[in-house]
Amino acid sequence: MADTILKELTLKVWRQKDRKSKGKFETYKVHNVSTGTSFLEMLDILNEQLVSEKQEPIAFDHDCREGICGMCSLFIDGRAHGPDRDVTTCQLHMRRFKDGATITIEPWRSGAFPVIKDLIVDRKAYEKILQAGGYVSVNTGGVPDANAIPIPNEKAEEAMDAAACIGCGACVATCKNGSAMLFVAAKVSQLALLPQGKVETARRAKAMVAKMDELGFGNCTNTGACQTECPKGISISHIARLNREYLLAKVKD
Ligand code: FES
Repeated sequence: MADTILKELTLKVWRQKDRKSKGKFETYKVHNVSTGTSFLEMLDILNEQLVSEKQEPIAFDHDCREGICGMCSLFIDGRAHGPDRDVTTCQLHMRRFKDGATITIEPWRSGAFPVIKDLIVDRKAYEKILQAGGYVSVNTGGVPDANAIPIPNEKAEEAMDAAACIGCGACVATCKNGSAMLFVAAKVSQLALLPQGKVETARRAKAMVAKMDELGFGNCTNTGACQTECPKGISISHIARLNREYLLAKVKD
């Protein structure tokens, strides 16, 4: 479909000076935006406009702009990463919006992800969960042959599906309980499904769940909202696996 021009858009953007300040929505207009423009490029256009008017540009996170890094985490019109399914904010294009639309843009809303400035949140809590157990312990030495440990294709595929999680935090921001179960489950699954990671599964599941609870994430009540809004389509079947691994570890204790 050929690109057209959106003559006017009204943007209601969350502005917040720093962690301690109270934020509020500010309203801006942008004009003549091509439907082929990405959502972040549209924000770039708005920022150029703000700078030329000697106003402070809007702070928002991004890095790869290719759906890989998970940095671009915006709540757009009440949905994590906006109205499209299976895309990150950086891959969302303005053709999904109508000329004259009013678009509301907010940061993730979760107690575990405090707002640092405007649309940027602090996601260190995810790093702390990973540090608690999201790794495989290895002894240093020679590199083993790639085919020394046979892995059934379906297991490898399932592990790769779990490894697609980019840690953006959409699941937490979407969940009414602010639960990080989908994230933790994806990280536990990607290792538990492979022989190299299986040996430490019990320790990993317990440590990551304990850290998640300690950091104030909520409990999972199986609403499935996380799966719907995950830009990488991570399945809640991984949560079932995490629950299984966690219970088994507790029984063994
Ligand atoms: S900027 Fe990297 S996933 Fe969007």
